[in-house]
Amino acid sequence: MKIDVRAGDSLAGFENLIVLSSSDGGPDLGERSLPEEALFARLRERGDFSAKRGKVLCAYSEDGSLRWALAGLGPSDGLGPRAWRDAAAAAQKALAALGAKEAALLLPAEADAGEIAFGLLLSGYKYDRFISNDDKKGKRLERVTLLLPEGADPAPAQEAVNKASIIASGTRFARDLLCAPGNLATPAHLAREAERIAADSGGRITTRVIGEEELEQQGFRALLAVGQGSEEESRLIVLDYDHAAGENTAQTKTVALVGKGVTFDAGGISLKPPALMDEMKYDMGGAAAVLGVFRALAEMDLPLRVLGLVPSVENMPGGRAYRPGDIIVARSGLSIEVKNTDAEGRLILADALDYAKEFEPDLVIDLATLTGACVVALAHEAAAVMANEGGEPYVDALRACGERTGERVWPMPMYDEYADLLKSDFADLKNTGGRYGGAIIAGKFLQRFADPAPWVHLDIAGTAWTEKERGPVPKVGTGFGVRLLLDFLGSLD
Ligand code: BES
Ligand code: MN
Ligand code: ZN
Repeated sequence: MKIDVRAGDSLAGFENLIVLSSSDGGPDLGERSLPEEALFARLRERGDFSAKRGKVLCAYSEDGSLRWALAGLGPSDGLGPRAWRDAAAAAQKALAALGAKEAALLLPAEADAGEIAFGLLLSGYKYDRFISNDDKKGKRLERVTLLLPEGADPAPAQEAVNKASIIASGTRFARDLLCAPGNLATPAHLAREAERIAADSGGRITTRVIGEEELEQQGFRALLAVGQGSEEESRLIVLDYDHAAGENTAQTKTVALVGKGVTFDAGGISLKPPALMDEMKYDMGGAAAVLGVFRALAEMDLPLRVLGLVPSVENMPGGRAYRPGDIIVARSGLSIEVKNTDAEGRLILADALDYAKEFEPDLVIDLATLTGACVVALAHEAAAVMANEGGEPYVDALRACGERTGERVWPMPMYDEYADLLKSDFADLKNTGGRYGGAIIAGKFLQRFADPAPWVHLDIAGTAWTEKERGPVPKVGTGFGVRLLLDFLGSLD
């Protein structure tokens, strides 16, 4: 979808018009008069259109030349980012469902053009690559023009729209990877995608893919253990965006983003039950978010060094698979007793977090579809955030970014007592800690490998994938994390 911004009152050439409306009149469209103002006033008065956030009413102008989509913003006090985003998303979906290809949108002076763009760009997503029938493919508007009042300067709104377009492509890229089936999105496939991101970046991003032979030489035994039951070769994908490459880098912050890339999680020998096992193709949601961020970074010019570390494996049962009871000495030197081969994400992340420290990062953030317990705790409404002492100061900033972008995060406590549950009779720690508090226990496990670098952990098991559409966020693969992380990286000085 292409979005332009233009000043001027003429609606000539448009067949569709989006008007955003709050439930108590407004927002103010300036001097612009709506051709069907009386009709809208009546619809509102009679209660035919409530202007609830995300509600849409489509109708035709009297001469039939223009189709209207009246989209509700909710009450006019407290028009936050979500109101603009959801109203634009609803209008886009309603018009596209009627077969429309283009629309003009009357941009109120107080509107958040960036959020409107996100609503337009991210709504109506469908992974339709394997759907043969054209009628069943996703339908979306191809072109939207945001119309400002005559004489207004379109530049600020256009800039916000351009930035949103870059970020939204990252999110859509992540959604495609999440929805791609496990027979397509293998560790090798993720590596190829990373290489393509680097190749398209005009030299701003470099990629290195570390295969099994080198991983073995470098002691990534926990990562390799998880992948050893699969025919697919395990990989560690390293992406590097260095804004100040070659210059004096003393001023530039280094942030390492680590994304769990289990391309299919059958559970291994501790095999999962068959119900919903198919969904475990999205167990690379952390990896998808990291790759989506890098796709956008290439076009964003952030004054940072950002590293992307994606440990990628397939967790399968088989004659060569690792076993419950196995003891693995991780890259850091800590020994791990494997109690359950289905607690595999923390094992591959253990080695990746340990490796991340070699870059002397100012902050490490990992994203992982790590625990079912996280979904039990927070459902699909927020990701869990956990941090060590050095990462703690960043949690509030991440929460604020989450509220703004709609990719919300909520903190879990990290008391030391939780770590006691990981004590093993045979090794330095075990990979599971009993029935309760599973999201936190997994976080405490990771902390053993992340310390002492400043570190934040996001468990995105419930937010990377959902069963219900929410405004511009589709059901199934959401692309959670791309907007959140880019917003956060943009806020670092
Ligand atoms: N990938 C799963 C976690 C998961 C579950 C993500 C549901 C999304 C939805 C992870 O590898 C896993 O299997 N975790 C186990 C850990 C347990 C064995 C300690 C879990 O949560 O059941
Ligand atoms: Mn698992
Ligand atoms: Zn998993």
